[in-house]
Amino acid sequence: DKKKVVDQWQRPLRDLRISVTDQCNFRCTYCMPKEIFGTDYPFLTNEELLSFDEIVLIATQFARSGVEKIRITGGEPLLRKGLPDLLRRLRSIQGIKDIALTTNGVLLPKLAAEIKEAGMDRVTVSLDTLDDQLFGSINGRGVGVQPILKGIEAAHQAGLQVKINMMVKKGVNDQEILPMARYFKNTPYVLRFIEYMDVGTSNGWNWDDVVSKEDILKVIGDELPLEPVPGHYYGEVAKRYQYKDGTGEIGIISSISDTFCSTCTRARLSADGKVYTCLFASNGTDFKHFIRNGASDQEVYERILNTWSNRKDRYSDERREQNAEERKKIEMSYIGG
Ligand code: GTP
Ligand code: 5AD
Ligand code: SF4
Ligand code: SF4
Repeated sequence: DKKKVVDQWQRPLRDLRISVTDQCNFRCTYCMPKEIFGTDYPFLTNEELLSFDEIVLIATQFARSGVEKIRITGGEPLLRKGLPDLLRRLRSIQGIKDIALTTNGVLLPKLAAEIKEAGMDRVTVSLDTLDDQLFGSINGRGVGVQPILKGIEAAHQAGLQVKINMMVKKGVNDQEILPMARYFKNTPYVLRFIEYMDVGTSNGWNWDDVVSKEDILKVIGDELPLEPVPGHYYGEVAKRYQYKDGTGEIGIISSISDTFCSTCTRARLSADGKVYTCLFASNGTDFKHFIRNGASDQEVYERILNTWSNRKDRYSDERREQNAEERKKIEMSYIGG
């Protein structure tokens, strides 16, 4: 009985990004700056977090509404206790074809084999530089690059598909674009460059901080010639390019210079049970209290269809309009990117 629900711009619902915790073992300057996310920061309590039963209930109704892909995010999702148990249950939901994880990689040596066994298909590891000093200051915890490379290797060894995400911020790590491209060329890993985005309100985003897709392509292409390749699937976030010498591909996620709202099929479930229909949304739709107050599966399903069919979000397309940047927005660590 799968409904093909579409939103106000005729976009179908295909992906659900589930944030399983708002906590992280890093304090990346552009995401959870330690001045703001200090020891007294009011992180969610266990009671406030969605339980696994609640996540599975909501995900099941999303699958019934058209969702085929699930991505587990955080904060740092591998910090959530018992995550493999949740994965096993998500894996068995009818209609779910793909389960992926976005992680900083620190805990992969410990958990890669277990999450693979529990049904994880692929992981995306964030790594913004190969320079230990710089990486330590970006992650705010002085962690070097080696633990992350070990995590990537562990994931690969466990049989997981692996992608690497490099957020590029001008004056911070743009000099690392080429070293990263050289390093991950000819490996099993697809490197993706992400234009620095104005997510949330605590990262002090500015247009001048952005290195555009065209700039990134030029820096790499001058040394390592590239050519565009067609997308893998409808609504793919990254634009793909392959090295002309056949040694692999890269992706560029250009949410600033070349937006992709018109094919955005993603819903986001926050760790405290709100559904957001855009990364830059001001408000979410509550599901946690709805369920805790006794909503039936059918009622949850109907609330999903309602939320999606009313959706109008296209923030990245509207960014240049007046005051768009001044809107209230949720924090990245709360919604998982
Ligand atoms: P694949 O399934 O492997 O294609 O993953 P993905 O690229 O959808 O997910 P990932 O978590 O790796 O996202 C990469 C970057 O793109 C992150 O910085 C996300 O915040 C950003 N991103 C993902 N979806 C959206 C979106 O709908 N809008 C915007 N503006 N950025 C997004
Ligand atoms: N702009 C672009 N990417 C960001 N990320 C976190 N904050 C931002 C931002 N403001 C990246 C992380 C991770 C992914 C989920 O999002 O580095 O790779
Ligand atoms: Fe943690 Fe990822 Fe945010 Fe860095 S970007 S603080 S690793 S959630
Ligand atoms: Fe989707 Fe919002 Fe990102 Fe546009 S800005 S692609 S609508 S999440």
